Amino acid sequence: MTDIRATLRSVSLENPTVLPAGILGITAASLKRVAASGAGAVTTKSIGPQRREGHKNPVVVEVNGGLLNSVGLSCPSLEESIEELTSAVKESRVPVIASFYGRSIDEFGLVAAQVSKAKPDFIEANISCPNIEDEYGKPFGTDHRFAAAVTEKVKDSSKIPLIVKLTPNVPDIKVIAAAVEEAGADCISAINTLGPGMLIDLSSGKPVLSNRFGGMSGPAVLPVAVRCVYEIYDTVDVPIIGMGGIQSGLDAVQMLMAGASAVGIGTAVWKRGPEVFNVVSGELTRFMQVNGYRSLKDLIGRAHQ
Ligand SMILES: Cc1cc2nc3c(=O)[nH]c(=O)nc-3n(C[C@H](O)[C@H](O)[C@H](O)COP(=O)(O)O)c2cc1C
Repeated sequence: MTDIRATLRSVSLENPTVLPAGILGITAASLKRVAASGAGAVTTKSIGPQRREGHKNPVVVEVNGGLLNSVGLSCPSLEESIEELTSAVKESRVPVIASFYGRSIDEFGLVAAQVSKAKPDFIEANISCPNIEDEYGKPFGTDHRFAAAVTEKVKDSSKIPLIVKLTPNVPDIKVIAAAVEEAGADCISAINTLGPGMLIDLSSGKPVLSNRFGGMSGPAVLPVAVRCVYEIYDTVDVPIIGMGGIQSGLDAVQMLMAGASAVGIGTAVWKRGPEVFNVVSGELTRFMQVNGYRSLKDLIGRAHQ
């Protein structure tokens, strides 16, 4: 029997595939649909302290090897978000991860406390969005002191297990991973989008995205994501949700071998629909059967041997 059940701290997942933040919004209905399509866990779009319009359209553009997006963390009011989250937690048959952000360290604490009232299985601090500026002018996840301060603040504000989501856009992701683990993170997810990048429209001579720059996701970022997860696994003991460019079961195998305990599938859902979760689980199972792996434990971190 091939066993693809995954574990994140004390939470069990039927399979290691996870819907990452921001891919399919926040409504209970869309999260339920993804769970019904075979995702092992689902993450909400990042919930913020107040209603936010995000950037003007166009905010997503297809490029070779993936997407550039500058959605800019648009979200409804905190009250509306929590109402939706509460329904999602009640109705979901798979674990729910509530992603959230603040623009200051104190705001991270306040939003964490509010979001935790809905009792999701995890809260996920998004300290890594490349399209908005925190009060210090760059995402908190680009400085180990700010990353640790946010983590500590959130841990003081909530009893729900905390995932901290890291950015690849740093010189040394190991330093950030060590800082957030030391500050109390229960899990790490990586990576958020790469870049930012830019695409120019040749007829107008202007940037395609209204915000000019956007974060890169999709197959082109897979090698960067695998390297980040490999380095994080070398540095910390907490479980890692690895994401960035996964499209197939074989991509998922790479991510598990690099050290991930579960795998996020984002842009592939955007392109291929939620059916991709079942496809990835099926391909992963077949790879394990053919190669004699009986459980995910045999795969996780294998590239470090
Ligand atoms: C359109 C879009 C919106 C996103 N919104 C969020 C978000 O709200 N919060 C967040 O933490 N990550 C967000 N992300 C990043 C994804 O969760 C994921 O980390 C990234 O896309 C890499 O995975 P992928 O290549 O499988 O898409 C977004 C990505 C895309 C493409």
